[in-house]
Amino acid sequence: MEKINPPRGTADLLPAEKARHNLVIDLAREVAARYGFADMATPIFEFTEVFSRPLGASSDVVSKETYSLQDRGGASLTLRPEGTAPVMRALLSAGLTQQLPQKLFYSGPMFRYERPQKGRMRQFHQVGAELIGPGGPLADAEIIACGAALLDALGVAGSCVLHLNSLGDSESRQAYRTALLAYLEKYRSDLSADSQRRLTSNPLRILDSKEAADRAIVAEAPLLAEHLNSDSRAHFDQLCSALDAAGISWQMDHRLVRGLDYYCHTAFEFITDGLGAQGTVLGGGRYDGLSEMLGGPALPAVGFAAGVERLALLAAGPETKPVDLAIIAADEESLTACFALAVKCRAAGLAVDLPLSGNLSKKMKRVNQAGVRQALIIGAAELQAGTGQLRDMQSGAQQEIKLQQLPDRLVDLIAGKQ
Ligand code: HAM
Repeated sequence: MEKINPPRGTADLLPAEKARHNLVIDLAREVAARYGFADMATPIFEFTEVFSRPLGASSDVVSKETYSLQDRGGASLTLRPEGTAPVMRALLSAGLTQQLPQKLFYSGPMFRYERPQKGRMRQFHQVGAELIGPGGPLADAEIIACGAALLDALGVAGSCVLHLNSLGDSESRQAYRTALLAYLEKYRSDLSADSQRRLTSNPLRILDSKEAADRAIVAEAPLLAEHLNSDSRAHFDQLCSALDAAGISWQMDHRLVRGLDYYCHTAFEFITDGLGAQGTVLGGGRYDGLSEMLGGPALPAVGFAAGVERLALLAAGPETKPVDLAIIAADEESLTACFALAVKCRAAGLAVDLPLSGNLSKKMKRVNQAGVRQALIIGAAELQAGTGQLRDMQSGAQQEIKLQQLPDRLVDLIAGKQ
């Protein structure tokens, strides 16, 4: 049979990888809970307009990367490329905008038709936290601190740098846009084709262009920070002071504009040099206009999302955890009795493997290779005597166990109580 691979940009999560993913997701949920965020979930697909307006028609995500389909009823649906717009949509759908603040955590698969490379997938996973309600800079600080705490819990904080910028309010951005356009127009013909197009659609995105030609021009461009009005300046300054007060180090990044249209004021990314080109492990910012873009009331909000694959690549992962015990039938006739014992022990909370094939030495070898610590060996003679041989696979020490005392004796032994 010809080898069948998963679709380009997707990956199976075999047990070792899934264990690392679970670790990232569980830790993220735990850290978010410490910050007061409650776990929730939204559907994997939404009506297309949930993304088209908030993320911006000219954003890469909406213009080139969505997986959209028409369902049999004629509705235009899009596999979610991110979780922020769906969370806000869910809040509006449930009529929860009067009960603020809302502090919500989520995790799950996202879909973007991107060119796959290390750390960049077409189906990937995010964990994210959204703080909806408060408009002040301390909310931004809380979100950034929560992201930093997640990286810390994963043991990867040391290799990540927090990049920070302010996009200001819409008045500041408008003033900056005018100044930036006046500057870039002088170099129009030297800009990359993509950036020339962005001159009309979204000039701020030219700032984070990776093209060498653009970078040289952008290096001399006017700075957003110089065009912030006093409110925007104050918001950013207070955020920076709050981060300093909590000992969270950061770096000003004038070119950080983020790829989605819904952002205002704070934009941030934690970037590592440990992953090659796809070094952003966690990013987010303030998105006060998103609720209105979805037809809701004005609702200040700020949040982050992190890539689970990228964090899993970076974090030293656990291997899959071996089961507590293997119950090994020494001969074919004892297998049914061993099966019944295994069911009983599992009901008592033990993780038990029951090797079903191979002779005794093959079974022992496989159990050993899997790293299982204890093996209970039972053959016809043992069944007759009502006993089993419990073998510590590391030391080789063996002791007789009365089958009548199962599962309690084993539960105690495995818990280290003897
Ligand atoms: P984002 O920067 O587009 O922001 O994605 C957040 C994180 O998801 C990235 O930093 C990266 O680690 C991961 N990621 C993105 N695309 C891919 C991909 N193709 N393959 C693997 N990992 C990827 C958002 O999605 C916003 N919703 C974040 C946010 C929350 N802003 C406010 N609240």
